[in-house]
Amino acid sequence: MEAVAIDGPAASGKSTVGRDVAERLGFGFLDTGSMYRAAALWAIRRGVDVSDEAGLTALAESVRMDLDGDRLRVDGVDVTDWLRMPNVERNVSAVSAVAGVRRALVPQQRRIAEDMPIVMVGRDIGTVVLADARVKVYLDATVEIRARRRYAEIMGAGMDVDPGHVLWEIARRDRVDAGRADSPLAVAEDAVVIHTNDLDAGEVASRIVDLVEGRQ
Ligand code: DC
Repeated sequence: MEAVAIDGPAASGKSTVGRDVAERLGFGFLDTGSMYRAAALWAIRRGVDVSDEAGLTALAESVRMDLDGDRLRVDGVDVTDWLRMPNVERNVSAVSAVAGVRRALVPQQRRIAEDMPIVMVGRDIGTVVLADARVKVYLDATVEIRARRRYAEIMGAGMDVDPGHVLWEIARRDRVDAGRADSPLAVAEDAVVIHTNDLDAGEVASRIVDLVEGRQ
């Protein structure tokens, strides 16, 4: 199946851009971060400690995750609205760094990509999950710009947050995501790197659609 792989650091605009690209191309869209978030949510609900690697692995191996349009289901339960909660946010980096969790979820990501042409976003899509994807994109922006965008997003959703804390949290996530032993955030050799500091999401999406349609 045709697939577009989009990777990049936290708050680089992957989800907004990826969703837009998928819509323009008529492809499905999977944000793999939501699957790691769902695993973290499930661990919290089941009382599995985020330092218990064996417990987290067993949990990830025991669940089935499915896309239902733009909703994510875990064993049939729609978890979409719970994935941005602060306690999920706080624990997801640790959960996603567990090798056994990744070993369980990557095949589920590949299964979803077999069912439909897809735009898949994450940290290791071009390097690991869909290493054969024809079009691979890596979105980048400085940590300051990403923090500013995330801050605007949170305030726009009617929540209050300290801008310094947003910057600190994104810098921390960068360190964890790029520093972990298993599938760290990295640029695939054959990825096109798009620096988004001076581009809005629509412009980035247009560039990617051009790449897919062979105009670039
Ligand atoms: O993109 P996000 O913020 O929703 O990702 C949540 C966490 O999951 C983040 O800490 C990185 C991790 N992740 C990952 O390790 N591999 C992916 N393919 C996607 C996300």
